[in-house]
Amino acid sequence: MEKERRVRAERARARKRREARERAVRLTMALVLCMAAAFAGAMLLRNHMANGAVEAGTAITLPTQVPQGGLTPAQAEYLAARATTAPTAEPDAETIWKLMLVNARYALPEGYAPTELTVLSNGQSVDKRMYPALQQMFDDARAQGVYPKVRSGYRTSEQQQELMDERIAGYVEEGYSAEEAAQKAAEYVAQPGHSEHETGLAVDINANTDRSTSDEVYSWLAEHAAEYGFILRYPEDKVEVTGIGYEPWHYRYVGTEAAQAIMSAGICLEEYLGVTD
Ligand code: DAL
Ligand code: ZN
Repeated sequence: MEKERRVRAERARARKRREARERAVRLTMALVLCMAAAFAGAMLLRNHMANGAVEAGTAITLPTQVPQGGLTPAQAEYLAARATTAPTAEPDAETIWKLMLVNARYALPEGYAPTELTVLSNGQSVDKRMYPALQQMFDDARAQGVYPKVRSGYRTSEQQQELMDERIAGYVEEGYSAEEAAQKAAEYVAQPGHSEHETGLAVDINANTDRSTSDEVYSWLAEHAAEYGFILRYPEDKVEVTGIGYEPWHYRYVGTEAAQAIMSAGICLEEYLGVTD
């Protein structure tokens, strides 16, 4: 009897030890799997970030929206009037939003925000309607051995203000007076409410310097961007017209028809739209 109880007790202890071992093995395996998944995810993210990949993103709808087409009636009317004087522009609803003029003289319409944004893999975002062209341009550049990345896409006017404040503070730190600093900053940074970045239709494109030089990327873009509907928005010889210094990185989506007309004629958007005053 006593012996039988001891045997049963011993069996019960053995079973508990076995169950504990099995639990430990299961836990270790789950832990290893989690770590492997996290590592793979991190590597994937790192690769995307490293090459500034523009990939299928998530479309998000912004709280502030304007009617279909992304333009207020006043903006549409303004553009339609001017686009008819442009050499090749066809001011129909399908194309008009691409020709929105935003510069020091022409502010964004009150309350304007892109209807939908596509978030890129590096966290930047762009107007959803121009995203496919941007992706195609990046794919083709890479296939030809040139590696660009999106440095900056859509900005809210608050972000534009922060950028302006930082730039001014930088000049003040260099010893410029507040007035000089503000003037210098405005040569390259648009005032909030006046930046194309606030439309989601502009991107600052830099080189992924692990794989390409800035010169390689800027030259490739200058030669090919129009094929995808993008223009070099602030050319070196148009500073007087655009009011902004030469920016070989800032590209604006206007659609292929306007882009090819603008880039092949060597003009800027203001000239194309006939608004140079
Ligand atoms: N750098 C351009 C002009 C902007 O701030 O929108
Ligand atoms: Zn820019």
